[in-house]
Amino acid sequence: MDYFDLFVSLTTTIFLCSLIPSSHAATSTISPNQPLADGGTIVSPGGVFELGFFSPLRSTNRYIGIWYHNFSNSTIVWVANRNSPVSNTSGSLAIAGDGNLVVLDGQQRVMWTSGVSLKTRNTTAALLDTGNLVLRNSEVVVWQSFDHPADTYLPGMKPGLNLLTNENHQFTSRRSEDDPAPGKFTLGINPDRSTQIFIWDDGEPRWRSGRWNEQIFIGVEGMLAEYIYGFRLNNFALENVMYFYYNPFNSTPQRFVLSPAGFVEHLEWQEDSNSWQQIWAQPVTECELYNKCGNNATCTNGRNDGDSPTCDCLKGYVRGSEGCVRRTPLQCERREGDAAGEKKDGFYRIEGLKLPDLSDWVAGSASLSQCEETCLRNCSCKAYSFVTGIGCLIWARELMDLHFFSDGGNDFYVRLAGSELVEKKVKVPVLLIVVIGLPALSVLGCICLLWIFRRKLRALLKRPKRQEEASVNPSTGFSGVPVNEEEEGSDGKRTESTVFSFETVAAATSNFSSSNFLGEGGFGPVYKGLLPGGQEIAVKRLSNSSGQGIEQFKNEVHLIAKLQHRNLVRLLGFCAQRDDKMLVYEYMPNKSLDDFLFDQNKKRLLDWNTRYNIIEGIARGLLYLHRDSRLRVIHRDMKASNILLDDSVNPKISDFGMAKIFGSDGNETKTKRVVGTYGYMSPEYAMQGLFSVKSDVYSFGILVLEIVSGHRNSIYQHPDLYLNLIACAWKFWTEDNVMEFVDPSMRDSCLLIDVSRCVQLGLSCVQDRANERPTMATAIMMLEGGTMAHPMPRQPTFAFERSIGETVSTDQRFISGNSLMTTMVSGR
Ligand SMILES: *[C@@H]1O[C@H](CO)[C@@H](O)[C@H](O)[C@H]1NC(C)=O
Ligand SMILES: *[C@@H]1O[C@H](CO)[C@@H](O)[C@H](O)[C@H]1NC(C)=O
Ligand SMILES: *[C@@H]1O[C@H](CO)[C@@H](O)[C@H](O)[C@H]1NC(C)=O
Ligand SMILES: *[C@@H]1O[C@H](CO)[C@@H](O)[C@H](O)[C@H]1NC(C)=O
Ligand SMILES: *[C@@H]1O[C@H](CO)[C@@H](O)[C@H](O)[C@H]1NC(C)=O
Ligand SMILES: *[C@@H]1O[C@H](CO)[C@@H](O)[C@H](O)[C@H]1NC(C)=O
Repeated sequence: MDYFDLFVSLTTTIFLCSLIPSSHAATSTISPNQPLADGGTIVSPGGVFELGFFSPLRSTNRYIGIWYHNFSNSTIVWVANRNSPVSNTSGSLAIAGDGNLVVLDGQQRVMWTSGVSLKTRNTTAALLDTGNLVLRNSEVVVWQSFDHPADTYLPGMKPGLNLLTNENHQFTSRRSEDDPAPGKFTLGINPDRSTQIFIWDDGEPRWRSGRWNEQIFIGVEGMLAEYIYGFRLNNFALENVMYFYYNPFNSTPQRFVLSPAGFVEHLEWQEDSNSWQQIWAQPVTECELYNKCGNNATCTNGRNDGDSPTCDCLKGYVRGSEGCVRRTPLQCERREGDAAGEKKDGFYRIEGLKLPDLSDWVAGSASLSQCEETCLRNCSCKAYSFVTGIGCLIWARELMDLHFFSDGGNDFYVRLAGSELVEKKVKVPVLLIVVIGLPALSVLGCICLLWIFRRKLRALLKRPKRQEEASVNPSTGFSGVPVNEEEEGSDGKRTESTVFSFETVAAATSNFSSSNFLGEGGFGPVYKGLLPGGQEIAVKRLSNSSGQGIEQFKNEVHLIAKLQHRNLVRLLGFCAQRDDKMLVYEYMPNKSLDDFLFDQNKKRLLDWNTRYNIIEGIARGLLYLHRDSRLRVIHRDMKASNILLDDSVNPKISDFGMAKIFGSDGNETKTKRVVGTYGYMSPEYAMQGLFSVKSDVYSFGILVLEIVSGHRNSIYQHPDLYLNLIACAWKFWTEDNVMEFVDPSMRDSCLLIDVSRCVQLGLSCVQDRANERPTMATAIMMLEGGTMAHPMPRQPTFAFERSIGETVSTDQRFISGNSLMTTMVSGR
């Protein structure tokens, strides 16, 4: 640094003949008297970013750019003079006479300027640790590089659409990797304010994200809210600017970049490999190209990469000379005389779509049926859709850019004339029925019988069939072929999950014998097993409702097996056959927390130190899931029976990632299974199906209160006060009488100050409003009694309003959305 300072002051003196000696603190700023010559750089105060002149590969042109100071200094995140490089090394970056930041060439010609109109020259420029270059005029920020991005998004940027001036800050790709000049692709918020992100190719739409539903972009296939990307849409109504921003979960450097080829990718710096790793990339199938199949038509990707996509007219539309048009005119379009006796217009549902562009949002239409009515009333309405998190969308303009997702997507209701909706009845001659129908019926009967007895048959045929499959199709890695069935290494450092054969698992559990039955877990029965090597395992046999195919299941399990933390139960591997899907976990001898906590005798075994240790362990496990793991998983079913205890009564969270394995996508309209357990569900999740890390925080808060009080939230009612658990906690905590809330069986072993802190934490976590709840990182700080002052929790009114009658069943599995499916009592 000293050498560096010296260099800056030397160049300053030489180039400007300045009389003022350079200050040593000025290495992150440029002031009127301290321009930056080629060869010098400034570094942000914390040493994160660096700014100076650079030349791209295979070029001698000089550009002012910003790069990472400590690592990957060839990653240029911003360029000033993209259009007009300095041809040799005699350029400089300076504050001009008008107060603007300028890039000058050797002859002091202005190659680039920040271009704001300023009254005074009293400006300085500073490079911040976020990578933002700000220009301040008398302490007021008048210009910043974050508002004029190049091709890179950095956390903290808020580039967007100004709703008052329509000014739209967009990203522009570079021409090629080696040429920072603006390329032809731009990315930004759709100017029509539809909360979509667009990529334009020379100004023409190339790709769009679909609308934001408060969790994900509904047009991005495979974007799952369980894997929290950290995107947020700002409160644009309040700020008059609409932008998306990104909340990083850890301090690992990351960036989004619009590549010269016109695709977005999200990269994260990997310290161990010293390279950027892609953690997300925009899907790039042909159907993703904007309106690939034209208006009124859907695009379906070919089965294999490289197959060309299929274009089909929408239901009820036929290909005309111009494109797809409605076959039968709508009733409402026709003149009145014709319409007599006509069937009314109706809607045809198409599932699994990337909804078309150019939708209009209808305010105050709160349900699918209201939305349908709205559409029906307006003849220019061609279609509608109702999306959770968005509401009612109708289409009155052209239907453009429709695309069938291979998985997920939304329901789309397209308006058709009534006659189009009637299934055509084919008249079948009677003789034909007799000749073909009777034999067909008997065949059908046989099939039915076979179907009814299929279980028995399968049981009979089981062994030979499996062997046959194994020999027929060994390449799939399923059907009992042990692909990677290695003995567990003593270091336990394996990250790949193992495929267990059915035979191995069956042998380990003595054929799933009832003596090995551990209990009925949330997703199916659990058995204890013993592997030949002597390792004890717990086998979870998933109930049949798992919505995924085997490939998907396999992928998910591989991902989830990579989540490893001392407070998570280790997933050792899986076994998957056509009907049987099993997860193999490490075995936890002490069973689950609820066995102890809610048992009059066993709860005595949990003294305060043990309980505190359990709370802290759960918090750390959750923090890992939410923030530190690669996948960023929301658990969605945190509860006492999902906390297992090891030999030393350390807590281990189980069943994480199950929402994923069960194939529920983040797209709420398609989510048939929003899984949670009554008593642990946050208000926004229970009522709107919206989930986020804060829903887990809520469940964690309930757990904390349960651990402190020793009562089960779902059934507890104070015998005298008729208050539920949360209400009790609130009452005693606000009355400074926390000990009254504490489990009597451990009152002697605890300190008031510690339990008070835990109750306050619990109450903070169960606040009604998700954004007032702490993150798990803050929760841990609160738990450890950090010196920081934490806001007092607000009274959780949701918990108070719940009527007594609702709190009856224990641990009822609750499926929101469409139906209350099964009620499985979790009695583990
Ligand atoms: C940069 O590297 C130095 C030494 O390797 C280290 O001490 C410093 O914390 C790093 N700074 C940043 C911002 O990573
Ligand atoms: C990046 O670092 C390498 C070696 O550390 C150095 O040779 C090179 O000049 C640096 N590039 C920039 C633009 O600072
Ligand atoms: C750099 O280029 C400018 C013209 O753009 C010229 O006037 C100047 O002499 C050159 N300086 C060097 C060191 O070549
Ligand atoms: C320039 O701004 C600084 C604060 O940024 C202020 O202290 C100083 O008085 C200003 N000078 C003039 C000439 O306005
Ligand atoms: C799409 O369908 C609508 C309704 O039939 C029609 O008005 C429109 O012209 C069609 N668009 C094209 C490009 O054919
Ligand atoms: C029909 O819907 C379109 C689009 O939302 C709207 O512009 C138009 O005013 C509506 N017409 C009527 C009669 O409501």
